[in-house]
Amino acid sequence: MVVKFFGGDTVPLEMHKVRVVQKLTLAPIEDRVKAVAEAGNNTFLLLNRDVFMDMLTDSGVNAMSDRQVAAMMVADDSYAGSATYERFEAKMREIFGIHWILPTHQGRACENILAQVLVKPGTIVPMNYHFTTTKAHIVLNGGAVEEICHDHALEVTSTRPFKGDMDIGKLKALVATHGADKIAFVRMEAGTNLIGGQPISIANMREIRAVCDKHGLTFVLDASLLADNLWFNKTREESCKDLSIAEITRQIADLCDVIYFSARKLGCARGGAICIRSEELYRKMRVLVPLYEGFLTYGGMSVREIEALTVGLDETMDVDMISQGPLFIEYMVNELVKRGVPVITPAGGLGCHIDVMRFLPHVPQSQYPAGALASALFIASGIRGMERGSLSEQRNPDGSEVYSNMELLRLAMPRRVFTLSQVKYAIDRIDWLYQNRDLVGGLVFVEEPEILRFFYGRLDPVGDWQQKLAAKFRVDFGDSL
Ligand code: F0G
Repeated sequence: MVVKFFGGDTVPLEMHKVRVVQKLTLAPIEDRVKAVAEAGNNTFLLLNRDVFMDMLTDSGVNAMSDRQVAAMMVADDSYAGSATYERFEAKMREIFGIHWILPTHQGRACENILAQVLVKPGTIVPMNYHFTTTKAHIVLNGGAVEEICHDHALEVTSTRPFKGDMDIGKLKALVATHGADKIAFVRMEAGTNLIGGQPISIANMREIRAVCDKHGLTFVLDASLLADNLWFNKTREESCKDLSIAEITRQIADLCDVIYFSARKLGCARGGAICIRSEELYRKMRVLVPLYEGFLTYGGMSVREIEALTVGLDETMDVDMISQGPLFIEYMVNELVKRGVPVITPAGGLGCHIDVMRFLPHVPQSQYPAGALASALFIASGIRGMERGSLSEQRNPDGSEVYSNMELLRLAMPRRVFTLSQVKYAIDRIDWLYQNRDLVGGLVFVEEPEILRFFYGRLDPVGDWQQKLAAKFRVDFGDSL
């Protein structure tokens, strides 16, 4: 919620109060330099006890409401047929209006089931943009991903409200070139993760539906980041202005054949689910749930999480609840823009994304600038972000590097977790780092795993830039943490 302040400020006002808290510590910068070295300059390897603000992800770390926690206490635990699952199924049907539901332990488990059933070797899956786990499952089943977002989706600085939209011309061309039978399904990702949490419009979804109807294609929505997307539909799409969040959700759902999501994001719990319109498709997918997840009435989730998810989905229909993340992100992005710090615009969902190509133009991609900035920001602030650049890519079979289109440092904004003064602290330290960006150097691998190197890889700084950065911090901040 944004209210007018007498003093003229525009700040997002929290529409919740905090009643359970977790203590944080902020270590002196010298200790932070040591901690990041022990973690091999890889923020995935940092220990939580060394971290002040954890902005690695919003997955499984959003704050729960009192109603969610209370619901966990009345969960009905049984292997089969639990009342908890009945409540969950009823809520899903109410929200999405789709009858057939399957539970899974998290988002990528939905992707495994979808890909095993729908992807055949040689088929392609057109989508606005890939997500890492989605692509992995499609490729594992012999399919290929075709990213057909608009060319402008990759423009870092923009004022376009729906950069996540699909280019319908490219979709039609793909169908014409390959034939509809080669298309496993069409996938849209709400709140497109890897291009900066950028939303999709209902108008675009309608156009995709029309193409799918014409060619008999299955339309799948990854709704993991739907909560943020709904806020953007409400505030950026004229046709949604007077609709409730529940009505917007139903308009989106009505266009889809399948909706799946990570409940680590949507619903502020831990788990996942698939909604399927066709009974035939449901039956094909259903056999895989007991095989990979668990019985059909828990799917690998604890019943407590299912209760929390049921309430969390219900609360997602509350505009005050879903606006908190996007408004905090918008505040952070706008404040950084005012200070000249290069970030992805317009502000999207998920988090604030720093454009490292412009932040550290002097660090070559071969020295992983986004990883170097993640390390430098931890030193400057105790904030843990996530590298989203070349470090997250995999080398070519000949050993050469794959340089990513964008070098991003993602600073996720878990919902209702941080206060505005913590966000102001983040803005201040990023501002300081930007003023001192010339001091930041690159990284070099000392231990490079072949697969998913960004999770476990260890790197060293090139030269002694980290010591120089810490020394400058002491000059500017004195004894302050
Ligand atoms: N789809 C999207 C759009 C996601 O953002 C994620 C996870 C998944 C699927 C997979 O879900 O983790 O429950 O298996 N994104 C997390 C992140 C990991 O940090 O952005 P999962």
